[in-house]
Amino acid sequence: MNLNQRIEQWHRQTRATFEAGSQAGQRPFVTLCYAQSLDGSLTNRAGEKLQLSGANSTKITHQMRSLHDGILVGIGTVLSDDPQLTVREWTGDSPQPIVLDSQLRMPVSARLCAASGKRCWVLTSQSADSTVRDYDLLPVASSDSGQVDLPAALHLLQQRGIRALMVEGGASVITAFLQHQLVDAVVITVAPLMIGGYKAVGELGLSSAQPFPSLSPMHSEKLDDDMIIWGALNFAAGIP
Ligand SMILES: NC(=O)c1ccc[n+]([C@@H]2O[C@H](COP(=O)([O-])OP(=O)(O)OC[C@H]3O[C@@H](n4cnc5c(N)ncnc54)[C@H](OP(=O)(O)O)[C@@H]3O)[C@@H](O)[C@H]2O)c1
Repeated sequence: MNLNQRIEQWHRQTRATFEAGSQAGQRPFVTLCYAQSLDGSLTNRAGEKLQLSGANSTKITHQMRSLHDGILVGIGTVLSDDPQLTVREWTGDSPQPIVLDSQLRMPVSARLCAASGKRCWVLTSQSADSTVRDYDLLPVASSDSGQVDLPAALHLLQQRGIRALMVEGGASVITAFLQHQLVDAVVITVAPLMIGGYKAVGELGLSSAQPFPSLSPMHSEKLDDDMIIWGALNFAAGIP
């Protein structure tokens, strides 16, 4: 089997394990998938777009998109990158585009509103009229910090038929999913660069007396100049 086939087989098995467990039916299976430098940077500065993956690593990202019902990013990524989030470098359907946007900063011109042929879902803590927009508003309770409450958002996505969700970033969203222990699987492309920039994972509030979340088992393979690292994420008792 080649790398693409092995990652796909691993993903199906990991998802099947989740679906046989107690959280299935409560929320979607969640895969974190992003590219970083050797020092863990997503980009040089927050709000700047930086292409880190090589061509074949990008294909793996598109393959991963094709394996999910929904793909989610934060409004920070929409405003900086204006991504399409479609499957272009692989075969298969594009996932439902979903944005976390508490304050409704989503621009009407955002490419993901049109790219996949599916109306984008915007998870927000605001109540506003959806009919005049190019996307569907999904009101969700807000957390203590005033942002979209992630467990409530995932429950709503499950109710709307999203069984597998890919989270592509950016850093604030990756960190929030980890803080809430809402990640089941991880696929990271590591580019051979030292950037010293905006890190993928922020403060998780962990104590070194506890186990840290870990990939078990961790898989890795070099792909051209990049390293692909993937595995199921085990939180054990790691985050309070
Ligand atoms: N290398 C890669 O693979 C990759 C992938 C994606 C992005 N990026 C980069 O990452 C950068 C963007 O990252 P970012 O951290 O600035 O923005 P982000 O994570 O994309 O979005 C963060 C925003 O999402 C909203 N949000 C709503 N509910 C949230 C919740 N529960 N938890 C966290 N956020 C929530 C917040 O804005 P409101 O409070 O207004 O709702 C928050 O400021 C860009 O430079 C982009 O290029 C890199």
